Amino acid sequence: MRGRLVTRTSRRSRGPASARRRRRSSTLVLSLALMATGVLWSVLAPSGSAADSTDNAAVKAGRALYLQGCSTCHGLNAAGTVSGPSLIGVGSAAVDFQVSTGRMPLAHPGAQAEAKEPSYSETQIDQLAAYIQTLGGGTTKPEISKDDLADADLTYGGELYRANCQQCHQAAGQGAPLTYGKYAPALTNATPEQIVEAMRVGPESMPVFGSGQIDDEGAKAIAAYILMNRDTPSPGGHKLGGYGPVPEGLLAWLIGIGGLLGVCLWIGARQKV
Ligand code: HEC
Ligand code: HEC
Repeated sequence: MRGRLVTRTSRRSRGPASARRRRRSSTLVLSLALMATGVLWSVLAPSGSAADSTDNAAVKAGRALYLQGCSTCHGLNAAGTVSGPSLIGVGSAAVDFQVSTGRMPLAHPGAQAEAKEPSYSETQIDQLAAYIQTLGGGTTKPEISKDDLADADLTYGGELYRANCQQCHQAAGQGAPLTYGKYAPALTNATPEQIVEAMRVGPESMPVFGSGQIDDEGAKAIAAYILMNRDTPSPGGHKLGGYGPVPEGLLAWLIGIGGLLGVCLWIGARQKV
């Protein structure tokens, strides 16, 4: 009975001491954790917040440009109006494509937005794209380097082009009319970025070619093929727009045979005299 009492009291007396010790050690852990957080913050925060603030500045500038130049048709919050579709979730690729090809801001409504001189500088386009990207994300603008194009497999690009693009843009990328006043434009001006953006975004009546269908390597190969095709010199003389044998044959008939006929008539006329 006594023994029990002794043990009980000794336990009781040990109790508060160990609790104090536990409290002390948890205070130590807490302060160590706080210190570690402080150190981590001071190491990571400066670079992170600098990048964030340039991003934020771009988004802010983009929003200002948007409100001024685009909101009349696309709405104050880009949710769309009767004059323009919603831009929520279209992504920076769509904005870069539309604005860098001069299609947007739309000059006048028609069957299809026409490409023209861009109204915004590259920086401004990036700012607009950054702002729209914050509204629900979407496909981001592709990064394509000179090396990407130099390393691209042109044969593969040509195969993909003939299988997926030729039916609308024609064999040499000279473009062709479609139905209802729409047309597949010539690919004479598009930059590699615009080519990949067009595939990923599918503007107007052009279908979307997602990365499941044509992967990034294939997309770059197509871009390289289009550039190669357009820069190929024509040692045989004028390309006649690259439309192939029909206009070339027509020209041969009109000028070649027409010229021969003219010569025959001229000889005949001289003999009479
Ligand atoms: C006069 C009205 C008008 C103005 C101004 C205008 N847009 Fe548009 N926008 C349209 C219409 C209409 C379409 C859809 C028709 C089309 O794509 O041809 C469109 C389509 C777009 C698309 C493609 C959407 C998609 O689903 O892929 C983007 C991106 C876009 N506009 C961005 C802009 C930006 C950025 C500006 C400001 C610099 C702008 N637009 C100014 C009318 C306008
Ligand atoms: C069904 C027909 C069709 C097919 C197939 C097609 N396109 Fe297009 N493409 C169009 C139309 C229509 C436009 C114009 C869109 C607009 O004005 O908004 C266009 C526009 C483009 C542009 C923008 C040109 C510029 O300078 O403004 C590029 C680049 C382009 N297409 C590349 C491609 C590539 C690469 C493929 C194959 C992977 C392809 N297209 C397949 C119909 C097509």
